[in-house]
This record gives sequence, C-alpha cells and structure tokens, in this order.
Amino acid sequence: MAYLEVLGLRKAYATARGRTEVLGGVDLAVDEGEFVAVVGYSGSGKTTLVSLVAGLIAPDAGEIVLDGAPVTGPGPERGIVFQQYSLLPWLSVHDNVALAVDAVNPGRPARERRRLTEELIALVNLTPAAGKRPAQLSGGMRQRVAVARGLAMQPKVLLMDEPFSALDALTRASCQDHLLRIWGERRTTVILITNDVDEAILLADRIYPMTPGPGAVLGPAIEVGLPRPRARRHLSLEPAYQKARQAIVDFLRANRRVA
Ligand SMILES: Nc1ncnc2c1ncn2[C@@H]1O[C@H](COP(=O)(O)OP(=O)(O)O)[C@@H](O)[C@H]1O
Ligand SMILES: [Mg+2]
Repeated sequence: MAYLEVLGLRKAYATARGRTEVLGGVDLAVDEGEFVAVVGYSGSGKTTLVSLVAGLIAPDAGEIVLDGAPVTGPGPERGIVFQQYSLLPWLSVHDNVALAVDAVNPGRPARERRRLTEELIALVNLTPAAGKRPAQLSGGMRQRVAVARGLAMQPKVLLMDEPFSALDALTRASCQDHLLRIWGERRTTVILITNDVDEAILLADRIYPMTPGPGAVLGPAIEVGLPRPRARRHLSLEPAYQKARQAIVDFLRANRRVA
C-alpha cells in the first residue's frame, strides 16, 4: 500500500436539479516524499477531492488511508494551502507562522518555537517582511506565508489547491520557483492541484489528469521523467518535458466535456 492511498472515492452534491455526482470513483496513490500533481479543467472536482483528503467533507463511498490510518476528519498531519489567502489579517507574517508552529509543538520551549518560525520564514524568503501584516504584502508574498504555515504543521502530506492561480504570471512563476527549491530542501509529500499543465510538469514527479465530470475520475498517472534539481530555463525544450506535456494534453482533450 502506498503512503497515501485513495480508493474509489465518490462524492455527490444535492443541487436544485437533483444530485450531481462530482467524483465518480477516484483512485490515487502517493509515495512518501513524492510530489504529485492533479491537473484538470475548472469545475472538474479538484477542490472536492482536496476537501475529502483534508477530511473537511466526507465521501459517499471509497476510502482514504494515510500512513496506514484511515482519514475520518481534519487533522494536523494534512497541511493545506488554499487558492485564496487564508492568513489572519490582524497578525504579522511572523505571528501567522508562529500560530501554526505553536499549535503543533506545544511542549517545546518558546525559544525553540521561535527558531522554527524564523527558519520557516527564511525558507520562503520573507525574513525582511516578518513584521508586516498580510495587507502590506503582495499576493505572491502572501501565498509564500501560506506555504510556510502549511509546512509549519510538519504534515505527512501538504495539500495545495491551486495555490498560485490568483497570481499574475510573473509572480506565479516566481512562487513556483520558490516551491521547487523548498521541496528540494524538505522533500515533504505534496499533492498539488492545478489547472496549469506547465506548473505541474515543472514541479511534480507524477501527474494525474482529471476528467471534467460529472463523475470525474483520474486518468493513469504520467511520469515526469525530468531529473532534479530542475530549473525553469530551457526545461520546455527537454524531450521528457514535451513527452509529459503531450500525454497530459492528449488525455484532457480526449476527455473534454461535451457541452
Ligand atoms: N458544496 C457544494 N454544493 C453543490 N455543488 C458543489 C459544491 N462544491 C462544489 N460543487 C460543484 O461541484 C463541481 C466541482 O467543483 P470543485 O470541486 O470546486 O471543482 P474544481 O476545484 O475542479 O474547480 C462544480 O460543478 C461545483 O459547482
Ligand atoms: Mg478548485
């Protein structure tokens, strides 16, 4: 069994027009230390999948097992980074991160917790902004705080739901580069949800394409055969990049929603 195993996950929502099955039997396996991406059109059911793995909502059928334990609700071993800023606006960058550090390390001395907090802030290159509040930061900086906070939980798996989608293209690229570097240093198990094929290839070891739904399922995982460490420059010229891209685009095209 994989480190994180998702088996036959089904979820329907009640709507004005009756029940709509959003997920129609999702299977997913992630190894420890692996970076997996899920790509799909908007409205496919990606956030629904993340919410299920996070334990924020319950499935109608199927199971989720993380490190041998079934997921039955939210828990600190699953960190989440949302698309929209989820920071506390009245707290500084330092205090937003410290809140998470303190929550998972209640028994450790204050000095040690402070060191952990400062380390995480440095990891996302925000040391000079540690005293600022979210409103004083750019969108990219805010999402980096969210990443630091997600990592502060020392989760078994970090779930990232389109973390950079709301950012402009240049900021988004810079955030991807930060994440690439951070993952290289930490090797946290990650599931990144994205609608950006190139983002998925740059960052992930394996990519699951998602059908549009209703009744969305994941296609067979596509291996990204690019060596690490990776750098954005020239990456798109690599045959392995083009091969992965073609496989994902072919799957998404073949499974397009018929309007
Ligand atoms: N709480 C809900 N109640 C009813 N329908 C929902 C709910 N959440 C999501 N949906 C519907 O389920 C589908 C998938 O949504 P979502 O998981 O947010 O997709 P994605 O994240 O891929 O854009 C959409 O059609 C959306 O409108
Ligand atoms: Mg979504």
